[in-house]
Amino acid sequence: MKAIIGGTGIDKSEYFEAQAKTVSTPFGDVEYMEKDGIILLPRHSKGHSVPPHRINYLANIEALSKLGVDSVVAIYAVGSITEKVPFLSYGILSDYMDFSGRNITFFSERVKHTDVSNPYDRELSKKLKKYLPEAAEDVVYVCTNGPRFETKAEVRAYGMLGGDVVGMTGGTEITLLREKGIRTAGVVYSINWGTGVRKDIEFPSDEKVEEMSLVVFNAALSALKD
Ligand code: HPA
Repeated sequence: MKAIIGGTGIDKSEYFEAQAKTVSTPFGDVEYMEKDGIILLPRHSKGHSVPPHRINYLANIEALSKLGVDSVVAIYAVGSITEKVPFLSYGILSDYMDFSGRNITFFSERVKHTDVSNPYDRELSKKLKKYLPEAAEDVVYVCTNGPRFETKAEVRAYGMLGGDVVGMTGGTEITLLREKGIRTAGVVYSINWGTGVRKDIEFPSDEKVEEMSLVVFNAALSALKD
């Protein structure tokens, strides 16, 4: 089974017309949609109602595991730190840094250290690139806790450390996906320059965000079906 984890903007996809199903996990119930054998898990729940620091990450990833998902494309709306993924462009992730401080893991009761030296699956990432040729590759994602945006000093520091884009969910999510051994590609679309990179934070219209998210969503579907 294959799945897309989608965030901001994804809720306008026609997948949302499919009947929502519910899967129960020890961490809570998770709603998802399914079409042509591919699952869509709306990260923030239907209607984008759960903020990033309150997402039930353990339930979401446990649900995918329980549904027999072995391949995931995870989609993230992000802010741009460097020119590698400029505002309003796309990127494919190769690495991440987690500054969220969330400390969420499936292995809090026993000693198990997960290898995250290659967090994002190369083969699936290559397929994504095939369907989204304009996307930058080797993009480093920085995860913050939110829900506030970063300070200028934080964004400057993340850039100096090697981060290219910043978001509030990806670090926690990929850690859990690796813990479950689910092969994952990560794709981002930039909806703003990070704080202080340009004069002001400026966001595109909802329509533009929707349009970009659908471009990424269709590439994710094609990559998973390839
Ligand atoms: N910071 C953190 N998360 C984000 C941003 C940002 O600038 N843009 C979209 N998600």
